[in-house]
Amino acid sequence: MASTSTAPPIKRAWWKESSVYQIYPASFKDSNGDGIGDIPGIISELDYIKNLGVDIVWLSPILQSPQVDMGYDISNYYEIHPPYGTLRDVDALIEGLHARGLKYVMDLVTNHTSDQHEWFKQAISSPQNPYRNWYIWKKPKYDADGTPQPPNNWRSHFGGSAWTLDPQSNEYYLHLYAKEQPDLNWDNPDVRAEVHRIVRHWLDKGVDGFRIDVINFISKDPAFPDAPITDPSQKWQDGSKYYACGPKLHDYLRELGSILKEYDAFSVGEMPCVSDPAEILKAVGFDRGELSMVFHFEIMDIDHPPNADKYLPYPFTLPTLKRLVSKWQTFMHDNSGWNALYIENHDQGRSISRLTLPHNNTTTPRTITPHHRTLAGQMLATFLALQSGTPFIYQGQELGMINVSPHWTIHDFRDIEILNHWQELCERYPNDNNVVQERALREYRLKSRDNARTPMQWDASEPWAGFIMPATAATNESGGGVKPWIGIHEDYKEWNAARQVGDEKSVYGYWKRVLGVRKAWGDIFVYGDYGLVDGGDERVFVYKREIRGGDGDGQGVRGGIAVVVLNFWEGEVEWVVPGDEDDNGMGEAVRRVLEGGKVVLGNYEGQRIETGKGKVVLRPLEAFVVVLAEGE
Ligand code: GLC
Ligand code: CA
Repeated sequence: MASTSTAPPIKRAWWKESSVYQIYPASFKDSNGDGIGDIPGIISELDYIKNLGVDIVWLSPILQSPQVDMGYDISNYYEIHPPYGTLRDVDALIEGLHARGLKYVMDLVTNHTSDQHEWFKQAISSPQNPYRNWYIWKKPKYDADGTPQPPNNWRSHFGGSAWTLDPQSNEYYLHLYAKEQPDLNWDNPDVRAEVHRIVRHWLDKGVDGFRIDVINFISKDPAFPDAPITDPSQKWQDGSKYYACGPKLHDYLRELGSILKEYDAFSVGEMPCVSDPAEILKAVGFDRGELSMVFHFEIMDIDHPPNADKYLPYPFTLPTLKRLVSKWQTFMHDNSGWNALYIENHDQGRSISRLTLPHNNTTTPRTITPHHRTLAGQMLATFLALQSGTPFIYQGQELGMINVSPHWTIHDFRDIEILNHWQELCERYPNDNNVVQERALREYRLKSRDNARTPMQWDASEPWAGFIMPATAATNESGGGVKPWIGIHEDYKEWNAARQVGDEKSVYGYWKRVLGVRKAWGDIFVYGDYGLVDGGDERVFVYKREIRGGDGDGQGVRGGIAVVVLNFWEGEVEWVVPGDEDDNGMGEAVRRVLEGGKVVLGNYEGQRIETGKGKVVLRPLEAFVVVLAEGE
């Protein structure tokens, strides 16, 4: 049935209808037995990825790099990091993806390079070198006794000052991350021209788009002012006010965007340190010609204390999640922007361990029974993928992988962020302060990036779960003694791909169904609007997606309403369906769908929808979706 809608016509785009699978190359699959995942390993699992039902594959960086920050420190933008493979392997990867109708998205890391990049080696060699101005150099400040001090008080994201002194020239260079990751000077047109050349080079090779690392940091306030003191316990302060979304950001993004547009390429920019959606809209507004979508961090920061060390304890609460989700969903929909949807990536703890409400109300260490773990993975899949936006699934999320075990000690961690954090902590509390250290370790096991970096669990085979491909593990020269570069999760016998593929009831099988539902009712789930049904409940999250049908504007929209019901708690809850008095007829619409619609997805059999009694009874971590399509 057609209706005369006053809503603006929907703006279709292939990248809105797609979903993305992220691969962390070092931890995906090792084909040659050196303990490090590689491109041939990825190629061997393309059918696994295709079968999940995603459309795009994004690989974290594979370019040449000393690996101080796992490839986010690039020393040559035209070569592959040898342990990952060769340029030929990349060609074969692209071919294999395209043959399956999948697209390839590459990680573009150009806010900074490695200090081993030829440009930086030139730049640091002398202030007169032509490459000097490719990076950001400043004269020292001096303290009372004449010792050089950094030009301002900015803190690096990996701890310490964001400036390192080059003793030879007595100038500091800026690095918002490790000192081995000097920031490029995007205000220099030669730098931008070179970035454009890199982008075209890879697009011409067949790459379909880019995930662009910390893209909102490329334009800094030219005055480089001191940051306000937001954490008085620290010497170095958060300077993001002066480098996140700086004055020239959108000029530079438009230049990039015009190249991307030529190729109809996909783009997702990573944008930490922004909470104002209006700011992000400038980059993703449909007609702005900048990026397709952006990763913001508000949801991922939900269990970080505000303006303080992220490794201090802070509770996850559902009302906060609802508020944040609703804020971004509504804003982007109402303003022709677009959301990138994610709750996991290579920089985050696993979502099952972080974003569910344990029965016993303790957050760490998180214990969860296998049955509840499956349900939790499924519930979170439903939560994520049916929102308005493009869903991103991080390797292992589709298997319900969880955080590292409580047995992990500091020696098990590999990530520079954690190792630096630990070192600072030990310097600050030198007397082997067990309380502080134990607390930090607990928080590392909850939020550190290494939680997401343990190897993929392909099967139950000992000792490496098929991560190191069996033929090579047996034949490699050290007699199979090679270990993965980072510890494997002990639970691989139970939790692995071989057990889940083909099992509808597994987390993997469920993800496949969620992505199928999103496609089957695409107009509702991709283009529909979003409404929060019940803001107050501390355990249950219910949202509604709706679109009016019609072909008045020639778009043939299939209208309908969907209600997504999610119990984030590990216990049984009676959810009270809102009454008619609830905002704008929301309660009425929801009841109509629950009563007359069709359950299209659920992680339990036989939903207990008792609208007559004004309630829905939800079992632990239950999720289901009801659709009422127009004309049905
Ligand atoms: C991004 C990456 C992260 C990296 C940082 C510096 O946040 O996702 O892994 O450490 O940028 O490049
Ligand atoms: Ca390898």
